[in-house]
Amino acid sequence: MSARAAPQFGGHGIEDLARRAGSTPFFTLDGEAVYRRIRDLRSVLPERALLCYAIKANPLPALLERMNALVDGADVSSVGEIECALSAGFAGHRLGLTGPGKTDAALALAVRAGVRICAESVGEITRIADAAERQGRPARVALRVNPDFPVTGTRVRMNGDSVFGIDCAQIPIALKALRTRQLEFGGFHYHCASRMLQADTVNALHAHCTAHALQTADTAGLALPWLNLGGGFGIPAVEGEAALDVASVGRHLQSLDERLRALHPDGRIALEPGRYLVGEAGIYVCRIVERKTVRGRVWLVVDGGAHHHLHATLQPDREQPANLPMQLVQRTPADDSECVSIAGPLCAPFDVLARDIVLPRAQPGDLLVVRQSGAYGASASPTAFLGHPSAAELLL
Ligand SMILES: Cc1ncc(COP(=O)(O)O)c(C=O)c1O
Repeated sequence: MSARAAPQFGGHGIEDLARRAGSTPFFTLDGEAVYRRIRDLRSVLPERALLCYAIKANPLPALLERMNALVDGADVSSVGEIECALSAGFAGHRLGLTGPGKTDAALALAVRAGVRICAESVGEITRIADAAERQGRPARVALRVNPDFPVTGTRVRMNGDSVFGIDCAQIPIALKALRTRQLEFGGFHYHCASRMLQADTVNALHAHCTAHALQTADTAGLALPWLNLGGGFGIPAVEGEAALDVASVGRHLQSLDERLRALHPDGRIALEPGRYLVGEAGIYVCRIVERKTVRGRVWLVVDGGAHHHLHATLQPDREQPANLPMQLVQRTPADDSECVSIAGPLCAPFDVLARDIVLPRAQPGDLLVVRQSGAYGASASPTAFLGHPSAAELLL
């Protein structure tokens, strides 16, 4: 964007938003953009598919209240997330609890609230059964599967030798444990990768997981009520990356849904994206406090960084370390551009928001807008680090 254009976000000037937030840094999420994203995604998905939201991407309470009306359910991974979802109006039966380290408190709350629990180990099934027995309530238990399938095209993989899910070889033992402890079989759950940008990658993964679920249900003689294919849809994070072709993913899901319906008429495919639904709808804004030159490199030092937005700084899961898209809001628009690096105030070498990015010549007082910041921002960063204040958050 040119230095002279007055950058806007969600129909508001960035300086106006800064005044509304009261201080920098702050995150802002455009609720209308989230609404449009969900509407557009739904338009390509099979009508019967359940679209859920992975709350970990952004658990802002005001956002969850809006999400409640827009999605069919939510993925939660802790007591805190269950409580946030319930307070935002999600009924317990619309929630799925995943995560490899569920505490007894989380299991007890999930049983009490009627949450579908996605067991990630055979041992966890025992703890769920104990919690259900203590409360004299039934529990609905899906099995999170760790499928043996090579995921390509992303570095963020959650299958194979990772901690997530139950090894395929142990699924028969897990199913037997459900029967022995008289727990309701709630289906299969697969979430194997994040940041997938190629439709072929997503489609291959969905096909593999669906085949595994159908085959396992058939062998065990089970009706399959729920086939959760997880999230993992990526958003272009750096220049040159193309958006995921969700129309292709949707067409492929139509065919998987037809197969599922033919064998299990009541079975529903569920998806639970996080980043894809909110990532592009959010920005992080900080202010430049200093410019300096060190050994020929121009540094802009800003008042925000890794303590609010770790993802914008470390980005360990990128194929190539790369900067998120950024732009400046200048009091006096510059005529010339320059190549700069941008650091936060944390006195830590990792607190670098951008390396060698070309921007209009910036001055202290200018605002830096970091785009693609709606997911894994405020809540995914160590906000208490170094005692800096938390970022304000706005929902438009
Ligand atoms: C179980 C589960 N579902 C969904 C998601 C959402 O992933 P993404 O934001 O990549 O869509 C995650 C993220 O880690 C997850 O662990």
